[in-house]
Amino acid sequence: MAQPMERFVGEVREIVKAGGTEEEITARVAACMKPIIGDPDLLTADQLLVKKAGFTLNRIHIEPDGSFSIGAGIWDVGQRTPVHDHGTWGVIGIYRGAEKEESFRRQGARVMEGRAEITPSGMRIASAGDVFVCCTTDQDVHRVSCHSAEPVVGIHVYGGDLAKIPRLKYDPDTGEVVSFQTGWDYARVSV
Ligand SMILES: [Fe+2]
Repeated sequence: MAQPMERFVGEVREIVKAGGTEEEITARVAACMKPIIGDPDLLTADQLLVKKAGFTLNRIHIEPDGSFSIGAGIWDVGQRTPVHDHGTWGVIGIYRGAEKEESFRRQGARVMEGRAEITPSGMRIASAGDVFVCCTTDQDVHRVSCHSAEPVVGIHVYGGDLAKIPRLKYDPDTGEVVSFQTGWDYARVSV
């Protein structure tokens, strides 16, 4: 792991240990990420590898107690995710390229099956150097697409091991909810 990332992991650990509301934690994590997101040495070559068509999530760090995880998320040119949620808080910093994020507001409680009513609630374009809070447990439904001529690479920090959190995809037309689980893509250790 690159040194600036190692320091960042330590800072996130302290923030998460100190606790607070999700709004407070995400604001503190974002403030720590902002000064390093422009560092060209933040990610290793392995962490920048695209592992498969569509979306790659290269594992950078999973905290042993499962309290947070950090990955490098890479969307190919032209790729768009389904509308989905995360089941936890998240902070994203754009390292290369640009992404378009469309947010949705979910009416009512998070139900793990059946239907949910979601309505569009905003859109933003995030470019290299931007750091933002992608989600809190209550407001975490969005759809993301690559908005640049190169793959968009982001540093993603989540309030748990993302691969262990049950997540939901939403059909924006019918409201149908389908559960899914994220897998980490493991960076190649050596060529
Ligand atoms: Fe997402």
